[in-house]
Amino acid sequence: MRLLRGARRVLLENWTGTSTVPSRGLYPHQWSWDSAFIAIGLRHLSVRRAQRELETLLSAQWGDGRIPHIVFNPAVPLDAYFPSPDFWRSSSAGAAAGAPTAVESSGIVQPPVHALACRLVHLADPRASARRGFLDRLYPRLAAWHRYLAECRDLGGHGLVSVVHPWEPGMDNSPCWDAPLARVEPAPPGTFRRADLDHGAAADRPTDLDYGRYVRLAADYRDRGYHDDGPPPAFAVEDPGVNALLIASEHALADIAAAVGADPAPHLARARRLTAALVERLWDPAAGLFLCRDLRAGHMGGGALIPERSAAGLLPLIVPGLPDEIAAALIRTASGDHFGLGTSVRLVPSYDLLGAAFDASRYWRGPAWFNVNWLVERGLRLHGAVDRADALRSAALDTAVSSGFAEYVDPYTGEARGTRDFAWTAALALDLLV
Ligand code: DGY
Repeated sequence: MRLLRGARRVLLENWTGTSTVPSRGLYPHQWSWDSAFIAIGLRHLSVRRAQRELETLLSAQWGDGRIPHIVFNPAVPLDAYFPSPDFWRSSSAGAAAGAPTAVESSGIVQPPVHALACRLVHLADPRASARRGFLDRLYPRLAAWHRYLAECRDLGGHGLVSVVHPWEPGMDNSPCWDAPLARVEPAPPGTFRRADLDHGAAADRPTDLDYGRYVRLAADYRDRGYHDDGPPPAFAVEDPGVNALLIASEHALADIAAAVGADPAPHLARARRLTAALVERLWDPAAGLFLCRDLRAGHMGGGALIPERSAAGLLPLIVPGLPDEIAAALIRTASGDHFGLGTSVRLVPSYDLLGAAFDASRYWRGPAWFNVNWLVERGLRLHGAVDRADALRSAALDTAVSSGFAEYVDPYTGEARGTRDFAWTAALALDLLV
């Protein structure tokens, strides 16, 4: 059938021999959360490749436990992607944080979907996994990754992980970042060259002003040796998507711990603490949604909630053990006017349909993304909204094929935006299919 054939083709063409590129042109290296989503789909084609995908990523882990958001392929020319390894200088600037010397990477992180992915890859063939010691080898690395996030990234001191760059939550130009980014002095336009515009339409991508600020924040973080101690950086945000994914992954890590003969209890305890902090710090009952908290705003060091509705606020639906009344409110919000699930849209948009900044084409300012829709679909199912999950699943499958496995789509029409033959779109469609 068309979907199976198409998804298989995309995943084969984007495979490099050790990992999968999100897209041959726009993203020619290995990306952290992309690889986790890709492995979830790839396991249906080849468990061995799915394991390899995650092993390659985790072999670039830093000594302090962080998993970098990009692992660079040395065979790709420097000017094919910006910011390239000579910008990040991981092995020198990141030396004190334990950046590996054998491979170049970025120094920021992306959402922790990895334990979730490792567990699903293991479950695809538990015997082959045990034979290769897949979980035994990856468990200590995953545990160190979660420890890094919980211990080094609790910048607010209230038990939640903070992100220090808009690329870290993966939703680069979300309108949630407009206010926190406004206080960042952009790097001057002539000091860098955007390679992304060689491959993507400018109207679908972040603006030059956004890029100036991304570059400034990344350079500042690099210049402080990628350290997380000291005063919080100019951009410091508690994001509900990142924290929800950590909680779901912590539950997965508890299962992995049990499978390798380690103690699952500390992972379950951390998941409970994070869930309580998530509700306490980011739940907004009036909006019926989790919001982001800007740690550099407000008074008394507690930060302030950002009054923008983003799909990140729906992602706690994947948290096992989320209080029932909150899960029910989230499902109502997803189905209401702001996100239109089951009424006005084909797929859940990345940002508030009624928000002043909504733009159906521009990256994370409105378009629907397949990873978000996969997570919402899983969350709806987890909390018993089976009919809605079924409808979302079939809309996602249809749209993945009709859009040519687009990176993202107009949430109303399903028309393709960004690049095509995007690896996680193919992988997650495959996972929904089987
Ligand atoms: C990009 O290059 O657009 C990424 O989102 C940063 O990882």
